[in-house]
Amino acid sequence: MASTAADTAVTSLADLKSAYEKDGWCEPPFRFSDDAVALLRERVLSISREQRPEVVHEKDSGTVRAIHGCHAFDEVCAALVRLPRLVELAEELTGGPVYVYQFKVNLKQAHEGAAWPWHQDFAFWHEEDGMPSPDAVNIAVSLDDVHAGNGPLTAIPGSHRLGLLDLPEGRTDGAESDWRSHVSADLAYTVNDDRAQALADESGRKVFTGPRGSVQVFHPSIVHSSSNNLSADRRALLLITYNAVANSPARPTRPTFLVSRDTTPVEHRADERLDLVSY
Ligand code: SIN
Ligand code: MN
Repeated sequence: MASTAADTAVTSLADLKSAYEKDGWCEPPFRFSDDAVALLRERVLSISREQRPEVVHEKDSGTVRAIHGCHAFDEVCAALVRLPRLVELAEELTGGPVYVYQFKVNLKQAHEGAAWPWHQDFAFWHEEDGMPSPDAVNIAVSLDDVHAGNGPLTAIPGSHRLGLLDLPEGRTDGAESDWRSHVSADLAYTVNDDRAQALADESGRKVFTGPRGSVQVFHPSIVHSSSNNLSADRRALLLITYNAVANSPARPTRPTFLVSRDTTPVEHRADERLDLVSY
């Protein structure tokens, strides 16, 4: 269908920003081409077979749960984070300029990929790293087709405006928790399940399904979760977190593959291998 003036209007950067500010998420009007997705999938598979600290496994299992910090050592992932359309969007949504705070791929393997309980990312970044405010943004790229059965990311619209919920008490001594509890199914900072279900019943659930190559954007404070993957289909989700340079934490202590120390603004550089196509 030919695009109309109205289509164009609802997908401008300004309109994406107003949707993001209202709902805590937005979906840009482009996705990665099949060739670009194939290249990213090939890199992710290759990295996930390496033995390195950035590769994290499911509990008591050899199944790879996630890989981290790939933009720092993989040339294709490094090219991905510099793509102008992603960086421009991140700058618009955070007030930019931005740097890459985190890069990860949650693989959610077929049959074995475990859940992510209800949580807010900013709880980890604020409590563990000292990120001053949620002036950061997650840009997610689906590397597999995502459907209701393979554990889609699910967010509660508007919950990013509620502040941080259910923080554990007695963590004012600056003590850090084990970083493994920030990337496992037993998360250190969760939103109470009853509270989250009640919020979702009231405000709805945005379920991020869609074909591989889809791009979705969500706020650091939005309450979100995803369920176990009980299906025969992997659900690999690549997540780039851009943080405003002015919002960098003073003294992060977690491993650099979880919290980048390089706060240099990301340069904008197109890469013909990673092309985006408009809807
Ligand atoms: C997921 O991969 O489903 C969870 C992603 C996240 O919590 O950021
Ligand atoms: Mn999260």
